[in-house]
Amino acid sequence: MTPTDEAILKVEKLYKFFGSAEGRFPVVREASFSVPRGRFVTIMGPSGSGKSTLLHMVSGLEPPSGGRVELDGHDLYALNEKRRTLLRRDTVGFVFQFYNLIPNLNVAENVRLPLLIGAGGGAGEQVGSTLEELIETFSLQGKERSYPYQLSGGEMQRVSIARALISNPAILMADEPTGNISSSAGQEVMELFRRSCDERGQTILLVTHNARDAAFSDEVHFLKDGELHEAQRLAGAAVTPENIASSLSTLGI
Ligand SMILES: Nc1ncnc2c1ncn2[C@@H]1O[C@H](COP(=O)(O)OP(=O)(O)OP(=O)(O)O)[C@@H](O)[C@H]1O
Ligand SMILES: [Mg+2]
Repeated sequence: MTPTDEAILKVEKLYKFFGSAEGRFPVVREASFSVPRGRFVTIMGPSGSGKSTLLHMVSGLEPPSGGRVELDGHDLYALNEKRRTLLRRDTVGFVFQFYNLIPNLNVAENVRLPLLIGAGGGAGEQVGSTLEELIETFSLQGKERSYPYQLSGGEMQRVSIARALISNPAILMADEPTGNISSSAGQEVMELFRRSCDERGQTILLVTHNARDAAFSDEVHFLKDGELHEAQRLAGAAVTPENIASSLSTLGI
């Protein structure tokens, strides 16, 4: 059994430059952090601070300009592209701001999609929670045969989280998952994240600009102009909106 203090994700001195030869500018600068197994970690920063870029680099979607990413014991960018894709598919569950549901598949089909493409193990194999368990956990009973256009934003986001969890990913990564839904639906999504961490030991990496969302996590790192600032390494209960607000004001964010 893996000790819980072992990091599933270790990020060392990560850089990303964008732009042409004349005007290369760093979007992420020397970012180092880690995500211990079973923890809920947030990277918080304003729009344009580099959150999505950082998340794409640590998940294997976007090669960094420099630095090292270790995901589930593998040096991610030492792998060839095919092996990196397989590792991502087997290890990472994704939740996006705009859900990315398949419009002509119903709720049940959308949730089961990762199993059909073989994520998390053998093709079609049941590896995580069952569809029925997820439908119940995410309060989607009676919606199994509905199509995305028939759902509210909050429901669509719950479907996308169920889809991310069905293959039992070692780490769930979420990019502004509440950015496009009502504040009460956002609160429900964050409660679901918290519960899946507490009850299933789900490791979560969230990026957000929203302090209220960040307050649900165990640890918060602050990203400002591509630079990561010291984490608020507090016990779960002590990561409060007040403490986050005071860190933001100290950092001038
Ligand atoms: N492919 C790209 N080419 C050039 N510049 C890029 C590219 N992707 C992102 N950028 C720039 O990098 C910076 C950080 O972008 P990023 O999307 O990571 O920020 P973010 O923190 O996720 O913002 P938001 O909260 O608005 O989603 C921005 O200035 C953006 O314009
Ligand atoms: Mg973004």
